[in-house]
Amino acid sequence: MNPLRIRRAMVPAATFVAVFAVASGPAARSAATYRPRVDYQLNCQGCHLADGSGEAGRVPSLRGVLVPFAQIPAGRRYLIQVPGVSESSLSDRATAAVLNWMIQRLSDVPVPPHVVPFTTAEVARWRRIPLTNVAATRASVQRLVAAQTSSRARSTASRSTDKSPM
Ligand code: HEC
Repeated sequence: MNPLRIRRAMVPAATFVAVFAVASGPAARSAATYRPRVDYQLNCQGCHLADGSGEAGRVPSLRGVLVPFAQIPAGRRYLIQVPGVSESSLSDRATAAVLNWMIQRLSDVPVPPHVVPFTTAEVARWRRIPLTNVAATRASVQRLVAAQTSSRARSTASRSTDKSPM
């Protein structure tokens, strides 16, 4: 690799580190969320509305899907590949930031601490592979989410039975 290309490749990584290093105080936090919020307002809000609730029958609400989908690989891929996300003019990095901002700000489902943030690399990997059938993919992700929720509920139930003194 020639030195110029190496330097160029290093710039975004350095910026990324700087943003996270600074993002500790309240003022810095608001600066870190400013860009994704504006990106959402300019690129997504027209259809999804300010609170992500969408428009019944036309644009699905984002409020119930972001957190459950972000917790399984197929759901994460869907969130990246859905046309509104994959075909926007936002860069991969800005897209990852918008998804992470949406999870924190537009979800009715509480965000568990183990939800892994989207990364630039993850967006880059999936956004260029188009979904052939959005509705079918969404339905299959929802089935996976439902299966996981019920198996979690079963294991919680059996754990509490184990612990029961009777
Ligand atoms: C022109 C209207 C429009 C714009 C702009 C738009 N979306 Fe969407 N979005 C939709 C529609 C309609 C769907 C339902 C799936 C489909 O038909 O593509 C959807 C689906 C989604 C979903 C999946 C929700 C689900 O329940 O399946 C996500 C996540 C999403 N959009 C995020 C975004 C983000 C982020 C942006 C901005 C970068 C954006 N959208 C821009 C209309 C839009």
